[in-house]
Amino acid sequence: MYKFLRPVVYFFILFLVVVTGNNLTQVAVNLGRNLTIPCPIQRDVMWIREDGEDQVHTRMSILEDGSLFIPQVDRNDSGIYACKRENVAFSDVKARVNVTVRTPPPALVNVVVRPSTILALLLWDVGGDGGYPIINFTAQYRLAYTNDSWIPISPNHITPNSRQIEVYKLLPNTTYQFRIWATNQLGRGNITEVYGKTLDVYMEQELARHLFEGADKFDTRVWAVAVGIVMGTLILLGLGTCFLLYQECRTPGVTEEQEVIELVPNIILNPGFDPQNQNDQVPDENSNSETPLRLNNNTVVQPRNQ
Ligand SMILES: *[C@@H]1O[C@H](CO)[C@@H](O)[C@H](O)[C@H]1NC(C)=O
Ligand SMILES: *[C@@H]1O[C@H](CO)[C@@H](O)[C@H](O)[C@H]1NC(C)=O
Ligand SMILES: *[C@@H]1O[C@H](CO)[C@@H](O)[C@H](O)[C@H]1NC(C)=O
Repeated sequence: MYKFLRPVVYFFILFLVVVTGNNLTQVAVNLGRNLTIPCPIQRDVMWIREDGEDQVHTRMSILEDGSLFIPQVDRNDSGIYACKRENVAFSDVKARVNVTVRTPPPALVNVVVRPSTILALLLWDVGGDGGYPIINFTAQYRLAYTNDSWIPISPNHITPNSRQIEVYKLLPNTTYQFRIWATNQLGRGNITEVYGKTLDVYMEQELARHLFEGADKFDTRVWAVAVGIVMGTLILLGLGTCFLLYQECRTPGVTEEQEVIELVPNIILNPGFDPQNQNDQVPDENSNSETPLRLNNNTVVQPRNQ
């Protein structure tokens, strides 16, 4: 039963998404398959291509039942086909079918390689999926202008949402050839190739030095302004502090002078110190029991604050 059905499935519409809005039927068919498009009328049928091509291609044929048969559909078989009655003026279109040929993914777009000294970054974009979702990407590389075998870029199956991959263990100052393609359920898409030369180690050092120089110049100006502002603020603060300190220094200076002066009478007075009158002595914060003892050994001097 299945063996009997298989040719029928091949001969008739393989992927039929019937959307009969506006009398336009959508048909999607895999590349290389045979396609048969039925027409509602069976006799005196004429098929035309609406998009540009007036006549259907000679390799296509109209079957006995009026269907259009397209063997091994090609990419450029995509288009709108219409059938109508032959040899009848102003014949109504009986059926309109939009045929979409599903293919492996078309070549990737915007494929570029950004080499460093010993590694490179391969980037790409997806222009289309051919009608089926992309399953994965595959990327390879080899020394440029050689017939060396291609070296796979790990992982072998790059996930379908990736748009870049790194290539490691390259030699500096060397040109490499990279190639990449997408795969869907119909197979490998078209391959895109790019070339890229890794940087010289010396060149990279130069580059780093230039970058550093640039940064240095940039920093000098910024730092000059910043340091100027900070230094100016510090100088102002310093001057202000000095002025305040100068003012502060003058006022306490008076008290200290007075204290020094007070000491002198005390010392002078002590030699003639009278023990009897010691109670009358006005307690002086500078007086102590030591000084009088040293100055006058005959006197007993009571400690202050008695
Ligand atoms: C497609 O049609 C050709 C005739 O044009 C036939 O030889 C071939 O077997 C068909 N292929 C399939 C898969 O049916
Ligand atoms: C369609 O592609 C085939 C080859 O695959 C070619 O011979 C044919 O001329 C193309 N037709 C158009 C209209 O481009
Ligand atoms: C880089 O390679 C070029 C030739 O491709 C060569 O002339 C040059 O000397 C190399 N530079 C270094 C640093 O090896």
